[in-house]
Parts: sequence; structure tokens; C-alpha cells
Amino acid sequence: MKTVRISIIGFGAVGQGVARSILAKREDLNKQGIDLQVVGISDSKGSEINAGGINLKSALERKKNKGTVAKGKENALDIIRDVEHNIVVEATPTNIENGEPGLGNMFAAFEAGRHVVTSNKGPLALRFKELKEAAEDNGLYFRYEATVGGAVPIFNLIHEALAGNTVIGIEGILNGTTNYILTRMAEERMPYELVLKEAQELGIAEADPTYDVEGIDSACKLVIIANSVFGQDATYRDVEVTGITKITPEALELANKNNYVVKLVCEARGNGLTVAPRLVPKRHPLAVGGTLNVASILTDLAGRITISGKGAGSIETASSILSDILFIARNS
Ligand code: HSE
Repeated sequence: MKTVRISIIGFGAVGQGVARSILAKREDLNKQGIDLQVVGISDSKGSEINAGGINLKSALERKKNKGTVAKGKENALDIIRDVEHNIVVEATPTNIENGEPGLGNMFAAFEAGRHVVTSNKGPLALRFKELKEAAEDNGLYFRYEATVGGAVPIFNLIHEALAGNTVIGIEGILNGTTNYILTRMAEERMPYELVLKEAQELGIAEADPTYDVEGIDSACKLVIIANSVFGQDATYRDVEVTGITKITPEALELANKNNYVVKLVCEARGNGLTVAPRLVPKRHPLAVGGTLNVASILTDLAGRITISGKGAGSIETASSILSDILFIARNS
């Protein structure tokens, strides 16, 4: 049995989803010869550390009842630097102003010789190249499937399943909140403010929903794709962005009459990165509804490959994190 020790830094929806998935999959993973032990969990109020493996059920219950996992005063950096483990799961909230605290946590992890798996978009939308180099310089893995498209395995698909192909361009819908809003406005003729509120209630909108509706969240994800796939060194400020706030119900109705839907489409081709509302034919592969995300990848050998699925959600995002953890467990 191979024991892999991990820490969960940030115990919000994503961090808790990771703990729940590990609990649910423990037996299956044991059968595959992998024993995942969580030796440290931290949130903004404190942490729990147990070198022998934290009881995840109790940690989740404590978080639910007390609002924090904290048993001790050690913080995220104390765990990352001082607790012996293999993988840091960095799941603190996205901050696109300066990437903190995620950025500092990731650099500290690489310095301490630990692999990083993350769902945190901010650091990658600001300092992707430096993070990648820090991982490489230390001979460590840096995996970030959960940062773009939630459960949709975009990076696995491109880097592993489509290995050998040259990617010519990528287009997609990478924000569930705006897709939900545009779908509900078009299909149910509901007013913008009401559907935005619904998206917030579904728990998929960003803490500040202007990041969704102004296209900033989409821009961050597009930049992560461009940096990862095209080797660029872009930040989200390099993306030409138009949000959905000016789309009227009349425009959606007119599109509908002509067999089109309006979607907030992200496009990466060569050096051009754009996020903007576009008319998409109803039968086009990008015309997915509700909260779904979709990515369509144009390659030289395989042609066009389109992949769609849930772009947000606690367990869905944890699916990508678990996949990255297992990749490292099997390859290190
Ligand atoms: N606010 C994001 C969305 C969450 O709506 O897609 C997932 O990154």
C-alpha cells in the first residue's frame, strides 16, 4: 500500500468537497493500493494537524457546527512548512488583485518540497510562469485541473489524451453563472436581476458576482488555458473582455427567432485572447444550457474535440482535485 499524505489548505466548499470525496472513495483507493491520509487542514480561523491522519468525518462535522475546523492555532504556512506530507491541496478563495493567500502558499509548498494541486484561479491568472518554474526547479508536480471548468477535465484531455497534437485554437463557455443567466433569460424570459439572484442561491456565483457577469472569471480561466496550452505568460489583464450586463431580453428574443442563442464565449487563438457575448447557432456544440461549461479544442491531428460538463460545485470541483492527487500518487 502506498501512503500519500496531503494537506487541505482552505476548508470552504472546495476543501470540504475534497474531504468528502476522500471519505467516499477510501475503500476503492485502498483496493488500488493507495492510502490517502489528510495530515493537516486549515481555514481562516486555525487548523487541525494529525500526523497519523485526521478523522475527516469529525473535521467536517466540526466545520458545520462551529464554522471552523480549528483545533489549534497553527496557520496554513505552519502546516505547509512544518508538517511532513507529499501534496498541498491549495483551495483558498480566488483573489485576482494579488493572488494571496494562495500565491504565497503555493511558493511555500514548492520551497518545502511538496507537490501542489489547486482549484485557486487567482495565482495562476497572475503568475503562472513563475509558479510552473518553481515546481520544475524543485522537481515537483503543479496540477490545476480544478481551476478551469470544475469537473471538466480540460487539461488532462489536452496534455495527456491529446498528447502529440498541436492545439490550433480553443473556444468555450467557462462560466456557469453567466450561462445560467443567459439560458434562463432566453428560455423563461426572466429579468436579469432575478436570475442573477438564483445563480447566487445555487452557490455557483463568485463572492462578488461582478466577476462573473463582467467576464473577469472567464478571462482568468482563459488565461490559465492559454498559459498552460500555448506556453504564454499572460495575465487576465491581457484578455479583451466584454461581459453580459448589456444584453437585453429583446436581443435574446431576436436571436431565438433566428435559431441562435447568445453565449459568453472565450476564445484563444495564437496570441489573441477574447471573452465576449456571441451568437451561437442552436445546434452548435457550444450551445450548452444551464450551468454547464464547454470547451471545444481544435487540433491538427484529432480535428475538433468538444467536452462539456459541470463547471462548478463542491463535489464536482473535488473530482478534478482527486484526479490530480491520484496522478501524482501514481507518478511519484
Ligand atoms: N463563478 C464560477 C462560475 C465558479 O460560475 O463558473 C466556478 O469557477
